[in-house]
Amino acid sequence: MIQNDCAVILFRRTLLPTTRRAKITALGTYVPPRVLTNKHLEKMVDTTDQWILERTGIRERHLADKGVAASDLAVEAVKKLVASHPFDLQEVDVIVVGTVTPDMMYPSTACLVQHKLSIARTWGFDVSAGCSGFVYALNAGAQFIESGRAKKVLVIGADVNSSMTDFTDRAVCIIFGDGAGAVLLEPAEEGEDGIIDYEAQIEGMGGQYLYMPGGGSLNPASHETVDKKMHYIHQDGQQVFKYAVKKMSEMTERLLRKNGLTGQEVDCFIAHQANMRIIKATADRLKMPTEKVIINIDRYGNTTAGTIPLAMQTAIDEGKLKKGDLVLLAAVGAGFTSGTTLLRWAY
Ligand code: UT7
Repeated sequence: MIQNDCAVILFRRTLLPTTRRAKITALGTYVPPRVLTNKHLEKMVDTTDQWILERTGIRERHLADKGVAASDLAVEAVKKLVASHPFDLQEVDVIVVGTVTPDMMYPSTACLVQHKLSIARTWGFDVSAGCSGFVYALNAGAQFIESGRAKKVLVIGADVNSSMTDFTDRAVCIIFGDGAGAVLLEPAEEGEDGIIDYEAQIEGMGGQYLYMPGGGSLNPASHETVDKKMHYIHQDGQQVFKYAVKKMSEMTERLLRKNGLTGQEVDCFIAHQANMRIIKATADRLKMPTEKVIINIDRYGNTTAGTIPLAMQTAIDEGKLKKGDLVLLAAVGAGFTSGTTLLRWAY
């Protein structure tokens, strides 16, 4: 059955015009300066540094101060991007922001980022896909390049998870952190690989395991919703964990197989940093050597849409990501959402 599906997808890909692919030409990341260590958490909830480290791989995470929102982290990430790769921000055609902690219900974070960066003529929107937010935003943004409708797309993943974390709930507050990353997408040269392929899937049955019930049209904010802590992250960690391990392996294996590749041929595996055990289980299944697997969850925790660009930066800093490398991205998150992407690093 899977084989048949792959054949269909492959066939469809070959019909698409492949002359204009999107490539990542720059990266910028930002985490707020305040650090919350496991030792701090020991004083806040009934937990231990050892438990958190062994069960998740996290040592510390960065948290935004009160009044600092997702758009602020996003803007800082874009400023870092521009500092490393100077170009005129006025040339940005589209801004796509992956976030589940937007500054507010509306306007979109993309609008707020556009305004704060004074980009005169652009358009954009937010993508709500939980921890798959960056992968979804990346592939959404790439479509504008591939179709020829845009030449420069800013793709941002930014989340201030601390804004909806109950710091008395030990099952949740130990995992999350705040952070952001931005990449610039531009058209690849003829014959250049850039973003090669992706797979994505949503399965709404997973909504019951990871969600924030308050503040939307179903449960508008009221004294009652606040009293019932409905504006916090609610998570059944075990259910999410089981799904993430299974789905991340399935999706990455299918994407590689579809492109005639094995895990060993991938140079760099950049997975969403939710739990070290999820990343390692996927890497083991793909028979990927440890040195190709990027881990920075120890420093940042789970920054939702921020994790993948932050891990890209870690990979570059550690000398594990360079021009021409074949990169595999993978994420699973609230929804459930899942997504994986195969790309050739272009700079
Ligand atoms: O990014 C996408 C969204 N999120 C995820 O991908 C998260 C996926 N889930 C996970 O990473 C893990 O399920 C957690 C890290 C959230 C929890 O780890 P776990 O190994 O699944 O723990 P558990 O929920 O099965 O709990 C095991 C035990 C329980 O005690 P008993 O019932 O065995 O006595 C919990 O009460 O650990 C206890 N526990 C804790 N102990 C110390 C739960 N949280 C903590 C804690 N400190 N912070």
